Amino acid sequence: MMYSSQVLDHFSKPRHVGMVENANGIGLIGDPDCGDFMCISIRVEDWKIVDIGFLCKGCPAAIASGSATTDLACDKMLEKAMCLTPEDVAQHLGGLPAEKMHCSNLGVDALRYAMAYYLGLISKDQPEAS
Ligand code: FES
Repeated sequence: MMYSSQVLDHFSKPRHVGMVENANGIGLIGDPDCGDFMCISIRVEDWKIVDIGFLCKGCPAAIASGSATTDLACDKMLEKAMCLTPEDVAQHLGGLPAEKMHCSNLGVDALRYAMAYYLGLISKDQPEAS
């Protein structure tokens, strides 16, 4: 399996690592198939994601996806961030091997949960990933 240079760059120098201070949205998602998980925390002000961080236990593609997701969502209005897809993340990473596409779902799903939590649509007790 070959990773793109962007995947290797995000994996070796991940952006936005950690938990955001004063987060007002948090999303935690796990992949039942591989047991890996992603946590994304956000600070939203005036409908804009002004700070974002991720924590991940996962393969290189998952870590790169967390980094790419936070890169793409940082400083975005919520309505834009809500439109981000796993394909956008994969594209930002110069593509992912087909068998690793599910790893890019982790970042986007965790981000969506974080935004849904901010909007009061879900509580901290979130459902398991499907
Ligand atoms: Fe589990 Fe990539 S193999 S997230």
